[in-house]
Amino acid sequence: MKRSKALHRFSAFLFLSGFSILSLQAQTVLNVKADQPLSKIEPTMWGIFFEDINFAADGGIYAELVKNRSFEFAQPLMGWKEQASNKFAITNAGSVLILHEGGDTNPRIARVNVQADKGYGLTNEGFRGMGIKKGATYTFSVQARQQQGSPTMRVELADANGKILGTTSITPAGSEWKKYTATIVASETEPKALLNIWFDGKGVVDIDMVSLFPNDTWKNRPGGLRKDLVQLLADMKPGFIRFPGGCIVEGRELTTRYQWKKTVGDIEQREMIVNRWNTEFNHRPAPDYFQTFGLGFFEYFQLAEDVGAEPLPILNCGMACQFNSAEVVPINQLDTYVQDALDLIEFANGSPDSPWGKLRKTMGHEAPFHLKYIGVGNEQWGPQYIERYAVFSAIIKAKYPDIQIVSAAGPAPSGELFDYASKELRDLKADLVDEHYYSSPDWFLKNANRYDAYDRKGPKIFAGEYAAQSVATVSPKNENNWRCALSEAAFMTGLERNADLVHMASYAPLFAHVDAWQWTPDLIWFDNLNAYGTPNYYVQKLFSTNKGTHVLPVTAQGETVAGKNGLYASAVTDANAKTILVKLVNAGDEPQTITLQLSSARKISQAGTITVLKGNPDEVNNLEHPTQIHPEEQPLKWKGKDVKTVLPPRSFSVVKIPTL
Ligand code: AHR
Repeated sequence: MKRSKALHRFSAFLFLSGFSILSLQAQTVLNVKADQPLSKIEPTMWGIFFEDINFAADGGIYAELVKNRSFEFAQPLMGWKEQASNKFAITNAGSVLILHEGGDTNPRIARVNVQADKGYGLTNEGFRGMGIKKGATYTFSVQARQQQGSPTMRVELADANGKILGTTSITPAGSEWKKYTATIVASETEPKALLNIWFDGKGVVDIDMVSLFPNDTWKNRPGGLRKDLVQLLADMKPGFIRFPGGCIVEGRELTTRYQWKKTVGDIEQREMIVNRWNTEFNHRPAPDYFQTFGLGFFEYFQLAEDVGAEPLPILNCGMACQFNSAEVVPINQLDTYVQDALDLIEFANGSPDSPWGKLRKTMGHEAPFHLKYIGVGNEQWGPQYIERYAVFSAIIKAKYPDIQIVSAAGPAPSGELFDYASKELRDLKADLVDEHYYSSPDWFLKNANRYDAYDRKGPKIFAGEYAAQSVATVSPKNENNWRCALSEAAFMTGLERNADLVHMASYAPLFAHVDAWQWTPDLIWFDNLNAYGTPNYYVQKLFSTNKGTHVLPVTAQGETVAGKNGLYASAVTDANAKTILVKLVNAGDEPQTITLQLSSARKISQAGTITVLKGNPDEVNNLEHPTQIHPEEQPLKWKGKDVKTVLPPRSFSVVKIPTL
């Protein structure tokens, strides 16, 4: 009682003497010169890095539910299981034989010999199960031809206990290959459903391209992409999408490099290959990880167009992953690789009468995709890279002088390999150099000023892959915690402040399936039914959706705000929306009072918003608590040209100040 009285008196003293709790906190005045805009911010500034790692494509954004649909995995029946109904032993019920019929792209088929009427079936396990939703419609399709008798197919969705969650049937007719389709409506929601195909009637039937897709895909495209995952990307309003990687571009060997020409045209003819992440890490083996290329280059271009992003394809430059085989193609045999780049530009931009433009038209897109950027090599290094890059660059620029070429600076943002590449690429007058930073949160905090004094006469920077590592690079124990996300936000204020130099930036990797990942941390996690954005996702989204058009100077006592007292800041103006946007990171453990002193040629509104992301350092989002850390927007009011606010400890805030 006595104590609370004393406390009350002390508070009254503070109040009467003009003190407030605020005045006990660190106070910082930041000068934001909205009347002195600096450089333009490229519309591409904040983008997306897509790689088929962690089941991002097959088993992820590509909505196909059947795994190994064309029996082309190394083990042709991987993902499939023979079934016999109760009264039969499998050996008496039927059998399946894999026939290699020839052809380069999809040579195998399954020949099903049914000996017991209604007794034999094949079950597909999906990608760690199949996510199905109550009331949703699924399209089953199969290529089939009858060989003997006329077995029909009873198709079921079932749970692990055998409960049937939907059925349909197919009646193949004739001995010629034909595609059959039928729909199933799911009676329940089930994250790990199985697909059973029972063969009714004795005989022999051949099958291939067994497929099941939800009808409710992104833009309702048949055989399309998972809607919730694309929506998370669209919500970021990304400036570009880099695809298809990542190391996947390189392959562990050149034979398994990514070849875009094999990923376009008819789905049935896209040659499936192993995914390089199948065997990369002994601690996270994924023997069932292959690339069907159902999500191929046409679909990547279409995705970029859908979400309003510039497409940025990265091509193999005649080098396999230098962490693996490090094979290189002899320089005098580089033609095929360079031709792939030229043909890709024609595929994207060429007239529908040109050979590759014609294919684009046939695939349903007569208009060009307006490709402006192309990447030569992923994360290459050394003289072999420079030599190959020089050949690509000379030939591409001679034919397409307006295409901007992204080149590689190796796997780390400093050191011998980096210094060598930077010098050589500068001498070669490269357009954009791709720098990668996988490092500790501390590194990100300390490097928020990395570009403040960078060479302005050399190539522009593409901060192509970055993510703070809570444990260590490639450690399976890395977490997408708030400590990491906050350090990335601090670093990104430095990228934004230097937007005259940094033209593109993307977090990496993008997606991870909770049951099938190889690499952590990742921006977006998902299971077969749900997905969530990590704290890092919300940091990316806040930058990207508050991109602005021009950088503004923001200083504290005449100095850049890049870490003193744990404070980081950058500011932009959006000439179209007529707003000033200030990004503020308080990396400290105490609140900080900030006064933004604005000088502006335009009248400043007296009300705006502050959007705050905050949390405890080890906090994460997950499927159970997908928005544990998420942005919260609040109104903010002020008088005159001084905007005062309190930054919570360990927070990232965006202050939006409308001008009139
Ligand atoms: O993002 C994961 C991997 O990290 C990428 O494939 C590669 O470019 C980098 O080493």
